[in-house]
Amino acid sequence: MAHSAGQLHIGLLGCGTIGSGVFHLIRKNAAGLADAAGREMVLARILVKELEEPRPFPVDRTRMTTDQSEVLDDEEIDIYIELMGGIDPALSYALKVLGRGKPLVTANKELIARHGRELMEAAAAGGTVIRFEAAVGGGIPLIRPMEESLGGDNVEKIMGIVNGTTNYVLTRMSAEGITYEKALSEAQKLGYAEADPTADVSAGDAASKMAILCSIAFKAGFTADQVYREGIQKVSPDDIENARELGYAVKLLAIAERDGGGVSARVHPTMVPLDHPLASITGNFNAIFVMGESVGDLMFYGQGAGSLPTATAILGDVVDISRNPGKQAAARRSYWSKPGEVKPIEDVETRFYTVLRVVDRPGVLAKIAGVFGDNSVSLESVVQKGIGDSAQIVLITHKVVERNFQSALKGLKELEVVLEIPSVIRVESGRE
Ligand SMILES: NC(=O)c1ccc[n+]([C@@H]2O[C@H](COP(=O)([O-])OP(=O)(O)OC[C@H]3O[C@@H](n4cnc5c(N)ncnc54)[C@H](OP(=O)(O)O)[C@@H]3O)[C@@H](O)[C@H]2O)c1
Repeated sequence: MAHSAGQLHIGLLGCGTIGSGVFHLIRKNAAGLADAAGREMVLARILVKELEEPRPFPVDRTRMTTDQSEVLDDEEIDIYIELMGGIDPALSYALKVLGRGKPLVTANKELIARHGRELMEAAAAGGTVIRFEAAVGGGIPLIRPMEESLGGDNVEKIMGIVNGTTNYVLTRMSAEGITYEKALSEAQKLGYAEADPTADVSAGDAASKMAILCSIAFKAGFTADQVYREGIQKVSPDDIENARELGYAVKLLAIAERDGGGVSARVHPTMVPLDHPLASITGNFNAIFVMGESVGDLMFYGQGAGSLPTATAILGDVVDISRNPGKQAAARRSYWSKPGEVKPIEDVETRFYTVLRVVDRPGVLAKIAGVFGDNSVSLESVVQKGIGDSAQIVLITHKVVERNFQSALKGLKELEVVLEIPSVIRVESGRE
């Protein structure tokens, strides 16, 4: 396609949910985008797998091809947007265009969380830039504020809801008292959860996002496999009810903080106080709390996924690249080459909610308290509920090193008065 000086030619790699949203917005908001970017945006070439595949938004078929070289080698393209997802072939295509000195915008969290270092180095070597605002928090401006607006501060802690599917499931469990399985199947029917929800419910998606946020906040290359993760599959309606009685909501939180010389990074179901802003984030929304040494507390909130919110973030990156070409040289992110160091989960200190099903007879509580005491675990609250021959003890510990808590759990399981330990959930006040 012939190129005029006032145009920005875009090569789109992938045109599914997000890619067709990008096409739609470029068409719908053409004048505003041209104003913001300083050039008319033209979707010059679009790479797909199947030409006949139905698209969520109508797309001009004449620009589409299934031949990657027609897009990747097109000299007239100024900037690439990768929206295929996955690693192969997204990684090799990304490395190729960066190697040719072309800027790349992507929403691919897996790619950045697993191959960030390679990609940042390829961008620097090519004298160009890679941007990925849409990879964390969908439409929420988060990466650029953290990189630029907070450039003069030190981030101390990040705590957020970065997966809309699991937040939807937990919200429904909380509102209706329904099981995890029922809430998940409802989310699937409404299109809020994929047919294979594993990446969401087992916290893999959130761990990738956490790795990206850690890299930016703590200025080193963190990868998804360094982030400790636990999914929401074991959270029960009883846990949600107990949490409410104790003044908490159960959320899948991604938490990272400077901890001594290192960084702790984890994603797991977490009880947060009902008056904490994250407790009120319902449905499929995302919210990320960032605590800076100087700026204090910030919260970013909005649609963490979906075609048009995510496409908006993509186009924001394109606008930024177009209007600030000089910034590309500065935004090298050389720190990504330094491997990030994560504190093992066993050394992390947190509070725990635990439910014990025990034999209902005198002296049981003393035995349990003894095991906790032997492992230096002190208890903040203990509530006992009788249920027939057995009783349920719901307790919350004070802050304790994970290793000690796990050792106490092991000791409890060996007591003949403890029948079962159905639940263990970490507790955050948000101010620790
Ligand atoms: N969906 C969301 O809400 C959301 C939010 C934030 C970030 N993201 C990220 O955005 C990216 C895209 O997600 P999506 O939901 O738009 O995915 P999608 O609907 O599955 O679309 C993927 C597109 O890539 C094309 N494609 C896949 N493999 C290809 C290959 N080998 N060669 C050529 N084209 C190929 C597909 O072609 P065909 O159409 O011909 O099959 C399709 O157009 C992912 O990295 C995802 O993690 C998604």
